[in-house]
Amino acid sequence: MLDRLDQQPPDALLALIKLHDADSRADKIDLGVGVYRTDDGATPVFASIKAAERKLVAEQDSKAYLGPEGDMGFVHALVPFIFGADSPLTSRIEGMQTPGGTGAVRLALALARRAGVTRVFMGTPSWPNHAQIVADLGMELVGFRHAAPDGTADLDALKTALANARDGDAVLLHGCCHNPTGIDFSEAQWDEIASLLAASPVLPIIDLAYQGLGKGMDEDAYGTRTVLAAVPQALIAYSCDKNFGLYRDRVGALYVMAPDAGDLNRILSNGHALARAAWSMPPDHGAAAVRLVLEDAELTANWLAELQDMRSRIGQVRAALAEAGLAGSVDLTPYGRQFGMFAMLPLDKLQIDTLRSDHGIYMAATGRINVAGLTMDNLPKFIGAIAAVSDP
Ligand code: LMR
Repeated sequence: MLDRLDQQPPDALLALIKLHDADSRADKIDLGVGVYRTDDGATPVFASIKAAERKLVAEQDSKAYLGPEGDMGFVHALVPFIFGADSPLTSRIEGMQTPGGTGAVRLALALARRAGVTRVFMGTPSWPNHAQIVADLGMELVGFRHAAPDGTADLDALKTALANARDGDAVLLHGCCHNPTGIDFSEAQWDEIASLLAASPVLPIIDLAYQGLGKGMDEDAYGTRTVLAAVPQALIAYSCDKNFGLYRDRVGALYVMAPDAGDLNRILSNGHALARAAWSMPPDHGAAAVRLVLEDAELTANWLAELQDMRSRIGQVRAALAEAGLAGSVDLTPYGRQFGMFAMLPLDKLQIDTLRSDHGIYMAATGRINVAGLTMDNLPKFIGAIAAVSDP
């Protein structure tokens, strides 16, 4: 029976990790999968997380099962950071822990499907796993252009797409730090999106996977908070994989905003049932460490300072790219106006392959780079290599 299974290609993004590891060149540059790197190219564990982990080891007295909802202390501790300290909406919001941001997106879409959603509208390009999850759930994906030719987010494309929406549709939006383009909706655009969604039958699903890595914790939540203030219901897929540096520990959460607080138990019970059938319960360790950070004012301040350092370094790299101006035929100036870890280079497959073979520079085949993989040391090499492959 199992011989009916066709060979599948490895996930293109995750395969880059192994390709880069196997390259013995000392000056190779990894711009593939989205992990933050310091100016030395390292991805260290946050000091605030290390401190919380020490506390966890000392104090945790049982690893007995929790439930499909995971660590609700963790889920609730994040609420003021995501939705705002005094948001009146929080009485209509409840969440549950998920295995990473992917688990949160998967659960959000599975819950939407259970509620009768069959079509998902999404700006493209997007994080490749979005489309894979939609397809795996047997839902239809309706794409629209995310970025306009002038390098801003294409609100008109979203408007046109939503004009055809009906009951049974959802729209999947990136809360901030758009993956892969780095091109976010402006605050004025979010205001319009919120009004648009308020008058639409579409269920908003917001993927907030990079809060704090763009402009700031509150600034990066502007779109999410503005949409939530306007619509009756929404799903929010949250990830701590990047902003707490917990990648492989898989720390995420799904939040539901219901039309009425009294609906939350019923809706979440479906989330619990889906989680039980898929992974039973999420892994505990990373979420418990986040909870301990957020329960301690000093650790929270340390975490926010570490996040600020990451944001500043990404901003410095972006500014340096913009200052470099042209690299061959590639204009690097737009990268200074974008946010988060990712940017798209206008390169073709041959150019991307040549960057890998001749220069040891690894990036996604789509042209996406992880800006955080660039350092003040490797920037000149990177810019020179882009010039070399793109010079007409
Ligand atoms: C990425 O886009 O590189 C990250 O979100 C990691 C992943 O799981 O793809």
